[in-house]
Amino acid sequence: MTTRRIFVCGNWKLHKTVAESVELARAVREAAETVGDAPVDVGIAPVFVSLHPVAQVLAGGSVALAAQNGYWEPEGAFTGEISFSLIRDVGCTHVILGHSERRHVFGETEEEIARKVRAALDADLKVIFCIGEMLDERERGEAQTVVHRQVTSGLEGLTAAQMDRVVLAYEPVWAIGTGKTATTDQAQEMHAFIRSILKESFGSDLANQVVIQYGGSVKPSNAAELLSQPDVDGALVGGAALKTDSFAAIIEAAVNVARN
Ligand code: PGA
Repeated sequence: MTTRRIFVCGNWKLHKTVAESVELARAVREAAETVGDAPVDVGIAPVFVSLHPVAQVLAGGSVALAAQNGYWEPEGAFTGEISFSLIRDVGCTHVILGHSERRHVFGETEEEIARKVRAALDADLKVIFCIGEMLDERERGEAQTVVHRQVTSGLEGLTAAQMDRVVLAYEPVWAIGTGKTATTDQAQEMHAFIRSILKESFGSDLANQVVIQYGGSVKPSNAAELLSQPDVDGALVGGAALKTDSFAAIIEAAVNVARN
């Protein structure tokens, strides 16, 4: 028996003005009210400059607020960076780390990501830790090797109490923003593999509690099928999180899966 809740989080990436973010956040708050007592959590990750006004919109509600990145130093001469304590201060409960765009567009290394994970946990944030292989790695049969390395390098040595505040997001890079979704079998297979890595490192009880989201072209038409897989516990949603209707439909699919 697992007690895992479904966690659906919108990753808005570099989209929306401040006013548009506030408007969408209001709509998401309303959509999340339909969750009722179903074991489903909803979150959104707007751009940094919208976090403050969006936090005001979400205050007192159930929608979690996440930042999309952060820097490990608490303060100092680091022009352009944002610390995890400031992310906490602005009202976030979560931060997305290790997203494939951070890894592959901005060249963040596994060491840097691991350092960020620890600093974010030290600042009392929950971490949505993203992992996933690129297309050529999958084609060479290396998907599991890559994911194994990413999971262990990012999470090795964390305590059980720290792992309690980590959510994983498996996002095959070839499925992000491409309209190509992993098949439910591909997603389930990798999610079960990730859980087996967590078992090796942290034991079965803890591994069974960790929420593992799937990400990569999740949309209303495929959300229910993906979320019905035994080891798929949520979704990190990019494109389909930018419109109220599609994000609300994904929340609805999560509620239906959770209630069945
Ligand atoms: P997508 O993005 O849903 O637009 O594929 C997912 C993500 O990058 O988190």
